[in-house]
Amino acid sequence: MRLVDGGAFSSYAHKEIGPGDELEVMTPAGRFTLPPAPGRYAAIVGGSGITPVLSIVSTLLAREPRASFCLIRSDRTAASTMFLEEVADLKDRYPDRLQLVTVLSREEQQAGLPSGRLDRERLTALLPALLPVERVDGWFLCGPYGLVGGAERALRGLGVERSRVHQEIFHVDAGAETVAAAPAPAHSTVTARLDGRGGSWPVEDGESLLDTVLRNRPDAPYACKGGVCGTCRAFLVSGEVRMDRNFALETEETDAGYVLACQSHPVTERVELDFDR
Ligand code: FES
Repeated sequence: MRLVDGGAFSSYAHKEIGPGDELEVMTPAGRFTLPPAPGRYAAIVGGSGITPVLSIVSTLLAREPRASFCLIRSDRTAASTMFLEEVADLKDRYPDRLQLVTVLSREEQQAGLPSGRLDRERLTALLPALLPVERVDGWFLCGPYGLVGGAERALRGLGVERSRVHQEIFHVDAGAETVAAAPAPAHSTVTARLDGRGGSWPVEDGESLLDTVLRNRPDAPYACKGGVCGTCRAFLVSGEVRMDRNFALETEETDAGYVLACQSHPVTERVELDFDR
C-alpha cells in the first residue's frame, strides 16, 4: 500500500501493521467486475488503479479467447509504476489480444507517447486513434478522481453510453465537487436497520448520518468516509437527505433509493436508513 499524504489508513498501515498481524477484512463489494465474455474491452487506469484492473484483464484473457483488451496506464515515472513486470508478462502471453499503452506524466519515454497528464482533452484525441471507441463493450476507469473524471467526460463526449462505463475512484482531494447545502431541520432523527437490528438516534449538528449511526452502532460499514468506496451504501426507506458528494453510486442505484450514509445529511426531521438491503 502506498502512503498517501495525510491518509488515515495508509499512515496507520505503514506505522502500525507488521508481519504476523492479522486483519479482518470485508468481502469485495463486487461492483467493479467483468465476468469473462467475448468482446472488446478497455481500461484507463492511473497509479495503483492498476490493481483491480490487472486481475480483470488476466482473468478475461485467460478464460475467454474471443476477448481483447486495451489497457491505458498513466503513471508518474517508470520507477513508480506498479505491477510493471506482471503487465509485461501478460503482454508477452497475449500479444494479439492485449494492447498496452503507457503514459508517464513526469518522465520522457524513449518510445511511444509524449509525457504529460492524461486529461480529458488528451484522451479525447488519443482514444479514437487507439481503438474503435464505439465498438468497445465495456470501459473500466480506475484511479484518482482527476483521471477518472476526465476519462469519463472524454468518453461521454465521444458518445459512449453511460452503461458501458464502470469506474472506481480511490482518492479524491478534499473540496472536489460538493453539492450545495440544502437547509437542514433544527432537529432530526435517524432510524437505521443494520444486521437485523434497528435503532433511532438524534443527528448532531453538521454530522453525517453515518457518524450518527457509528456513535451508536460501531459496526456500521464504512471505509473511506469520502464518498468514494460505496461501503456505507444504505437504502433510504423514508425521509429525504442531501449528499455532499457521490463518486461511488451509479445513477441506477440513486434512482432506486440508495444513498451514501457518509455523505448524507438530513433534509427532513425523520430519516430512515436500511443498511441490510
Ligand atoms: S465510506 Fe466510502 S463512500 Fe461512504
